Amino acid sequence: MSVKTAIACLLSIIAGIILRTDAAGNIITVYYPPDKTVMEFGLLNISLGMPIHAADFIEVKSNHGLRQKIVPGSENICFTFTLEPGMNNIEIIASKEGQVVDTSVIGVFRRSDLISAYRKPPPGYVKSAFHSGDNEKCEQCHTLKPSENDRMPLNLAQIKRDSKDSGQLKPGSTCYSCHKGIMKYTYVHGPASVWSCLSCHDADAIPTYKVKVTDTEVCFSCHTEQKSSWYSKKFIHGPVNMGKCAICHNPHASDYPFHLNKPSWDLCITCHYEKRTGLHVLGDTFSSKGHPTRGKPDPVRKGKELNCASCHDPHASDFPHLWQFDVESLLELCKKCHGDKKVR
Ligand code: HEC
Ligand code: HEC
Ligand code: HEC
Ligand code: HEC
Ligand code: HEC
Ligand code: HEC
Ligand code: HEC
Ligand code: HEC
Repeated sequence: MSVKTAIACLLSIIAGIILRTDAAGNIITVYYPPDKTVMEFGLLNISLGMPIHAADFIEVKSNHGLRQKIVPGSENICFTFTLEPGMNNIEIIASKEGQVVDTSVIGVFRRSDLISAYRKPPPGYVKSAFHSGDNEKCEQCHTLKPSENDRMPLNLAQIKRDSKDSGQLKPGSTCYSCHKGIMKYTYVHGPASVWSCLSCHDADAIPTYKVKVTDTEVCFSCHTEQKSSWYSKKFIHGPVNMGKCAICHNPHASDYPFHLNKPSWDLCITCHYEKRTGLHVLGDTFSSKGHPTRGKPDPVRKGKELNCASCHDPHASDFPHLWQFDVESLLELCKKCHGDKKVR
């Protein structure tokens, strides 16, 4: 028996004794994330260490009622957990043969520009720039440096072609091993769906992989048509004007069409809450009920539901109040849907 195996043997005996005598021992080591971390998006990468056979079952739950069950297969346990906006207290409970052997709690604050109460993290909570830190532990099993494949410049036509069958795509990207979760949504964005991560993220930035330019600059680098069309308009919507595309669009993927961060109607009323009644459309001379703003078929955009974007362009327009349909007056707008008895 070598010295190493002798020590390992001894350690496992001690661990065994601790396990039996002290049911709440320090079995779980959380490698990532540190406690009191601030995140911007909905997915958190968690990586744990645990002596093999110390536990046969791990339950992860948060104060938002989210749960995840894991059967540990090795000493390193990596998974992705969903975050709700605001405070997430994540409890990791390890058990063996039905008995809890250790628990660990991590506080993660998901910041959100869309909810005023969650714009500022609580005191003591900080962002951790994972990729600029010391990740030796992870590098035992993962490659953190971008591959040739990641660095390859892709052209738009190629992304368009590849994203059509991205379902079958086996990404050669090194980012995939840890970030595969970000694409598991219904509506995926072209360049992200083909794992062309470095078309927006910069491997030489500080912190590493930061998106160095404003949203508009990064988005318009490919969406040149939209750029010239919107910037030539008289009125540009507030958030677009401020360069904040990602306040509405997830740059990777989401469960809503156009990979919006919320369903379209909900997104608009996040900032224009008072417009949810539709009272503003008719004013109080016409009706006290207000105009419908959802829940009815859109008479113009066939197959879609009526929503705020039925009447307003979310980006820019030459017409007052960002009206759709290139109309100058209220009456013209009404006629677009009510004129030739499209509705009633
Ligand atoms: C002992 C080896 C090992 C170490 C050390 C390790 N990982 Fe992993 N990790 C894996 C394996 C194996 C997978 C599964 C890979 C796959 O399915 O492609 C994985 C998957 C992941 C995933 C994806 C989980 C999912 O299914 O969504 C994340 C995130 C992750 N690792 C993060 C980390 C981080 C962060 C560290 C360092 C703190 C780390 N890992 C250290 C082996 C390891
Ligand atoms: C070892 C696993 C691992 C690999 C491989 C990996 N990442 Fe990450 N990455 C993480 C973790 C952990 C975080 C922290 C945030 C989180 O939990 O999502 C993170 C965060 C990020 C962030 C947010 C900024 C930050 O530093 O917190 C970006 C951007 C990012 N990764 C891009 C990439 C890109 C691009 C690649 C591929 C070239 C990549 N990552 C490969 C684990 C990994
Ligand atoms: C179209 C541009 C674009 C592409 C392509 C893209 N990202 Fe991002 N990503 C962004 C932007 C913008 C942000 C927000 C960055 C910020 O606020 O600094 C972001 C944020 C992130 C974050 C941080 C989320 C968090 O928890 O804060 C991670 C992780 C990330 N990207 C990983 C990836 C990976 C992996 C890929 C490749 C599949 C990828 N991105 C492709 C634009 C992009
Ligand atoms: C590397 C090039 C590239 C960058 C950068 C880029 N996009 Fe895209 N985007 C695409 C491609 C390709 C498509 C798919 C369009 C197609 O197939 O016609 C697309 C589609 C879209 C769509 C339409 C989705 C749909 O369902 O029709 C939206 C919305 C979008 N992008 C928003 C953004 C935003 C917001 C940003 C910045 C965060 C951005 N894009 C940055 C290449 C890019
Ligand atoms: C206020 C929220 C909001 C902001 C900010 C925003 N978008 Fe959009 N975007 C939307 C909505 C909503 C749709 C879907 C419109 C519809 O239902 O027809 C959309 C659709 C799109 C489309 C596909 C349809 C089209 O018009 O080509 C692209 C591309 C796009 N957005 C890119 C961008 C870019 C680039 C930016 C930043 C310059 C941006 N968006 C900023 C809400 C927004
Ligand atoms: C992140 C916050 C935010 C979101 C989300 C948002 N808006 Fe706005 N909106 C603004 C700001 C800021 C202004 C400019 C302030 C002003 O002029 O009142 C504005 C102005 C407007 C205007 C008035 C333009 C004018 O000149 O009268 C309309 C119409 C509008 N938004 C429609 C929408 C629609 C439709 C959506 C959903 C697709 C939406 N907004 C989502 C922040 C937002
Ligand atoms: C049926 C068409 C229609 C729909 C649907 C609609 N609007 Fe409007 N919106 C209008 C008209 C018409 C005006 C101009 C009212 C006026 O002149 O007083 C307007 C004006 C606005 C303004 C600018 C005026 C102000 O008071 O600042 C905002 C912001 C706005 N709408 C947001 C929204 C949002 C958010 C939704 C979805 C909840 C929505 N609208 C749905 C027709 C519509
Ligand atoms: C984008 C299309 C669209 C535009 C533009 C539009 N409407 Fe409507 N309107 C609808 C739809 C859809 C309904 C719901 C019809 C139903 O109940 O099936 C509706 C219903 C109504 C109703 C009945 C409300 C109720 O509670 O039953 C009135 C009144 C009305 N619209 C007036 C107007 C006026 C005035 C304007 C111009 C300021 C206008 N609409 C612009 C689509 C539109």
